[in-house]
Amino acid sequence: MPSLRCIKCQSDFPTSKRIYTCPKCSGLLDVVYEAPEFQGDRIISAWDERRASRKSIDQSGVWRFRELLPEADESEIVTMMEGATPIWDAPRCAEYAGMSRLSFKHLGMNPTGSFKDLGMTTGITQARRLGATSVACASTGNTSASMAAYAARAGMNAFVFIPSGQIALGKLSQALDYGAIVLQIDGDFDDAMRLVREVANKSPLYLLNSVNPFRLEGQKTIAFEMMQQRGWQAPDRVVVPGGNLGNSSAIAKGFHELFERGVIAKMPKITIIQAEGANPLYRMWVRYRDREGVEPQNRDREGAELQYRDGKGAEDLKLEPVAATTLATAIKIGAPLSWPKAMRGLRWSAGEVEQVTEQEIADAKAMIGRDGIGCEPASAVTLAGVRKMVAAGSVNRDEDVVAILTGHVLKDPDYTVNYHAGALSFTGKNGERVALESRYANAFTRVPAERDAIMGILGL
Ligand code: F0G
Repeated sequence: MPSLRCIKCQSDFPTSKRIYTCPKCSGLLDVVYEAPEFQGDRIISAWDERRASRKSIDQSGVWRFRELLPEADESEIVTMMEGATPIWDAPRCAEYAGMSRLSFKHLGMNPTGSFKDLGMTTGITQARRLGATSVACASTGNTSASMAAYAARAGMNAFVFIPSGQIALGKLSQALDYGAIVLQIDGDFDDAMRLVREVANKSPLYLLNSVNPFRLEGQKTIAFEMMQQRGWQAPDRVVVPGGNLGNSSAIAKGFHELFERGVIAKMPKITIIQAEGANPLYRMWVRYRDREGVEPQNRDREGAELQYRDGKGAEDLKLEPVAATTLATAIKIGAPLSWPKAMRGLRWSAGEVEQVTEQEIADAKAMIGRDGIGCEPASAVTLAGVRKMVAAGSVNRDEDVVAILTGHVLKDPDYTVNYHAGALSFTGKNGERVALESRYANAFTRVPAERDAIMGILGL
């Protein structure tokens, strides 16, 4: 039977308890599994066989792995057959990054266009098991879109708290269309997060942000599905954007569970990339790295892992919030909640953290588009980060790297159109307007409504 365990004081609680953090010490909670029946080879063949099944819980790229998920009866499960997202080679992006090859797992190909659907199927299912009829979240957009859709499927009320004027319109339009009650808060994401937690603690609203451990259980299946698609061969490195740090934590937990059970032979290095204007984990990581003398790129994997484990850990570190600014609004977060779990994932995997500029994000996003793939701005930090790390020598050009694209290109069309029109700019730390260069612009051409003129312009 799975239970909830505090990652700080290790206290256990039943999964039937409606708690989001540890009632004793306020630490973050994990869902943990005894799973004595878990036998690597047997389970892999059961999971592989389910890919040919017509049952919706087998087709779901989350519930297919249910032996390592919180218990739920089939009748309780709220699924939109999420997951089953592609891994694509990206040769132009590889060249741009200075790699011999590079692939993307595109989580934007989920039902509502982002990875949030993986966590929402488990989160809403848990809400139903606990008898909740109303759910709530703070969001930079994608969580609200996903929660609104899954709540609608489950017949629940959805309340979303969003920072006023700071979310991409594609996401806002989804939350409205799926029938959520949308509250635009006069403040930023970090204000919205604080407020929704306060409201949820004093009301029957069930909180579905990634501080809720049931959300992360769904998202950890990114690791399971990636391994299934790759024949259970782990890559050297998995690169993921960092905002509230739920997703990187979840992916690390997924790989760690497979590693501990002998399903995969090594932990890929979890590599978290933040926007320079929203980089609290990066700052903390640099302090930790410099203090402990950790240089993962110069060590073999075994050595690096031991160094992290023995290096007094990061228990005394505290994340210092920043006032976040970035055009990648999905990750415009200054006080991420899941940082202790993100640090744990970095220690488990000898991982690394990097930051990238607005210009690097914009250009990387355009390159991902050129490969015929496309993504929203926050996802493009992955390619920008890999490029920077290859140039710095901390990623080897022949490494086997999978980068996670988190959201669909159509989530934020304004950004894309402005980039190609050469009109992208952002507000810097001191309130100044900074114009970005559109180095890979593909502007449209205005033509008269006349055949000969068009043929002339096209040189035909
Ligand atoms: N990429 C996209 C497209 C996102 O929407 C988010 C987070 C992230 C990356 C970062 O993931 O927070 O788990 O580190 N979006 C949240 C939201 C905050 O409200 O939709 P994280």
